[in-house]
Amino acid sequence: MKQFIEGLPKAELHLHIEGTFEPELLFKIAKRNNIKLKYDSVEELKKAYKFNCLQDFLDIYYQGAGALIHEQDFYDLTWAYMEQCAKQNVTHTEIMFDPQTHTERGISFDTVINGIYKATQDAEKKWGISSFLIMSYLRHLSEEEAFKTLEQSKSHKAKIKAVGLDSSEKGNPPSKFKNVFEASVKEGYIPVAHAGEEGDADYVWEAIDILGIKRIDHGNNSLQDERLIAEIIKRDLALTVCPLSNTALQVIKDLKDHPLKKMIDLGLKTTINSDDPAYFGGQVNQNYIEIQKALSLTKEELYELAKNSFQYSLLGESKKAEKLKELEDFLN
Ligand code: ADE
Ligand code: ZN
Repeated sequence: MKQFIEGLPKAELHLHIEGTFEPELLFKIAKRNNIKLKYDSVEELKKAYKFNCLQDFLDIYYQGAGALIHEQDFYDLTWAYMEQCAKQNVTHTEIMFDPQTHTERGISFDTVINGIYKATQDAEKKWGISSFLIMSYLRHLSEEEAFKTLEQSKSHKAKIKAVGLDSSEKGNPPSKFKNVFEASVKEGYIPVAHAGEEGDADYVWEAIDILGIKRIDHGNNSLQDERLIAEIIKRDLALTVCPLSNTALQVIKDLKDHPLKKMIDLGLKTTINSDDPAYFGGQVNQNYIEIQKALSLTKEELYELAKNSFQYSLLGESKKAEKLKELEDFLN
């Protein structure tokens, strides 16, 4: 199974670039930027990676991102992730980035996006891996702040495929961002959002009805509401599921209790993703491997998950067909 998973061509659709910041690289970049970290060593930092909830994690994740200052830092961070993609047969990736995490610290939007974008371009040249960028608004900040980010993004429109919504979910419902999502769609960005990770099914309803999202990040709590499940299926929306994230953030206690199999059996379209691999103990392949073991998924189900990852990507139809053909060729 491990070999089969490693060989499967796949896309990753739920990945925060700031969440790929491995402790070793974090220390290296902090050192060259003369930034003093709260932890004295890689080992000490790793010990702090124990979370009781999403907020526990976010506090450490934003601290880590504080080491990123220059365009080269964003390039190096992204390049390290692209190397992982190449190793894991990820042939297409849709990368979320949080501009506000950096602009709030005085780093320019241009510095952030140029570093990330250049690394994705170089990875496409080197390995043929395609990438899209998803500009994510931080939901703990105001809608007015999100509007400022939208404004800053306009001169980089050609580099950005979609807008997302992440950070602290509880108390920050999708409806808070109704106007900025409407304006983002007018600019040509495709809307997606985290919903139903810690928030209840009503947040998923808001995300699909008020924000009009085309894909649901996590979506676990959709299972609370049968009418919602039927609606998600009717609208053919996929869920970007992140198994190791869910256990690391105590969204579920044990992978054996993960709702993925139930989602599949209900007819929901799902994909497997790593979310923040540096913090949650595994890249995308490790997520496939561990969830396969926990739920005894079959090769057919794994194939379906990989197929969904291309089918529900934001790729155009001809690129999608190309990637799906590569998947078929792998199996035959
Ligand atoms: N930002 C990075 N990872 C996140 C997650 N799992 N949920 C919400 N916001 C995030
Ligand atoms: Zn996420």
